[in-house]
Amino acid sequence: MSHLLEERPTAPATDATWWRQAVVYQVYPRSFADSDGDGIGDLPGITAHVPHLRRLGVDAVWLSPFYPSALADGGYDVDDHRAVDPRIGTLAQFDDLVTALHAAGIRLVVDIVPNHSSDRHRWFQAALAAGPGSPERERYVFRRGLGADGERPPSDWTSVFGGPAWEPVGDGDWYLHLFAPEQPDWNWDHPDVRADHLETLRFWADRGVDGFRIDVANALTKHLTATLPSAEELRAADLPDGAHPYFDRDEVHEVYAAWREVFDSYDPPRTAVAEAWVPAHRRARYASPLGLGQAFNFDLLLARFDAATYRTVVEENLRFARDAESSSTWVLSNHDVVRHASRFALPPGTDEKAWLLSDGHDPEPDVAGGLRRARAATAFVLALPGSAYLYQGEELGLPEVSDLPRADLQDPTWLRSGGTEKGRDGCRVPLPWSADGPSHGFGPGGSHLPQPSWFADVAADRQDGIPGSTLEFYRTALAVRRRLQTVEELSWVEGTPEGAVQFTRPGGWTCLTNFGPDPVPLPAGRVVLCSGELGSDLVPADTTVWLEDEPGRPSA
Ligand code: GLC
Repeated sequence: MSHLLEERPTAPATDATWWRQAVVYQVYPRSFADSDGDGIGDLPGITAHVPHLRRLGVDAVWLSPFYPSALADGGYDVDDHRAVDPRIGTLAQFDDLVTALHAAGIRLVVDIVPNHSSDRHRWFQAALAAGPGSPERERYVFRRGLGADGERPPSDWTSVFGGPAWEPVGDGDWYLHLFAPEQPDWNWDHPDVRADHLETLRFWADRGVDGFRIDVANALTKHLTATLPSAEELRAADLPDGAHPYFDRDEVHEVYAAWREVFDSYDPPRTAVAEAWVPAHRRARYASPLGLGQAFNFDLLLARFDAATYRTVVEENLRFARDAESSSTWVLSNHDVVRHASRFALPPGTDEKAWLLSDGHDPEPDVAGGLRRARAATAFVLALPGSAYLYQGEELGLPEVSDLPRADLQDPTWLRSGGTEKGRDGCRVPLPWSADGPSHGFGPGGSHLPQPSWFADVAADRQDGIPGSTLEFYRTALAVRRRLQTVEELSWVEGTPEGAVQFTRPGGWTCLTNFGPDPVPLPAGRVVLCSGELGSDLVPADTTVWLEDEPGRPSA
């Protein structure tokens, strides 16, 4: 296996299509690296680790929210979209980060959270102060409650995090929050809201940001009739596409058409990727070049580790992306889901929420098998046409921290579900950079979520330079991908043994994944990457191998 690390050429700044096959690394800033010892990751911490990102070989960083926030939802409750949380840094430090990333040939994507602000946003505070019927309240979704004094909510809708979606403000008005009560939904019919977001996009684009990740891109616009349907009526109604009162309405694309004008006013155009949990056939509109340009496909977050499933997901998504004139995205982990090394350690069909509630003991995970499958899945994904989104810590093979003490949980899901769902903190524990030292090298102080003692074994410094470590495996994979990546095409190799999936990419790159259980023959070619041990001419179960054609001896 080659551990070759290639010098990366800096991507030309005028390249308007860099995103199509980029490897984008998600940084959850409060948990990445802490420079000042307050236990919360910060911008100088990220800047200090740019060499890690460069050595890893990523094309771009996506920064989850770093804006001022009370952290009611891990920073997705934004007080001010054009500022930096003082605990995380300053605008000058943001500029330093942009400079350091760009100098390393890495682009920067920031998170935009347009469905809601935080309840501390100046416009929401103004709306509360101004009272019912005021123009200030029109920027959000306020409604009179039902009953003589507005004492009952306008509807029985529940929020995504559980509990009611309407919050009373004490004067007969209620406001809509599809997420936490600290996240009031904007009224996207209001021109101020539209204009303010355009200003936010320009603000960050002017500071050198290359692209945007759009949070809950399928919400924003709403159609709330005088009498609202009940939650049950909404569930039971067989609504045609685009007819839901608050998700995936067609009008939302008018918003993105206006954003596209802003993106395209820059050279190179700024990019965007939609987080839109919509049925696959509705994804294309978000990914359209007239809209955001790309949309996440989360199918692999939900897929079992299985040959037929993976192949189907790839076939469908390549087709959807082509139809949308976009490129596909591939995601195995992010800050909202159980890390894939742990998902693959559980028997298929395990209820992950129940597993977390058992502190990761029921069932006991197959940790080694989980990592083996995670690495195989990662290598499979990195060989596909399109862009791959990696989540911080997956390059260390981190599993979920499934036994966080309940008293330490921060995710609103935990409280709002009445303690029946532990939520997403287990994938947000600050990273272990070193086996020793305070907070395993996360920073000179503590860490805002407790790190388990086994973090020492998986710390970055324990893996650095160690052949076969997950960190070296990722570095090799990204370097080889950079060398072999060409046009966005793939050909399936038919007739592979049961349980295996094999495809080739133009230029002589073959990828074979053995989803198990039996070993399968190694195809012809020179092995340039293997996700596990390759002892003989057989590819063991749960293993991906990449091969390069040898001159005169085409593989497959
Ligand atoms: C997105 C984010 C998630 C957040 C939610 C509300 O789904 O990924 O972390 O809680 O939006 O903003």
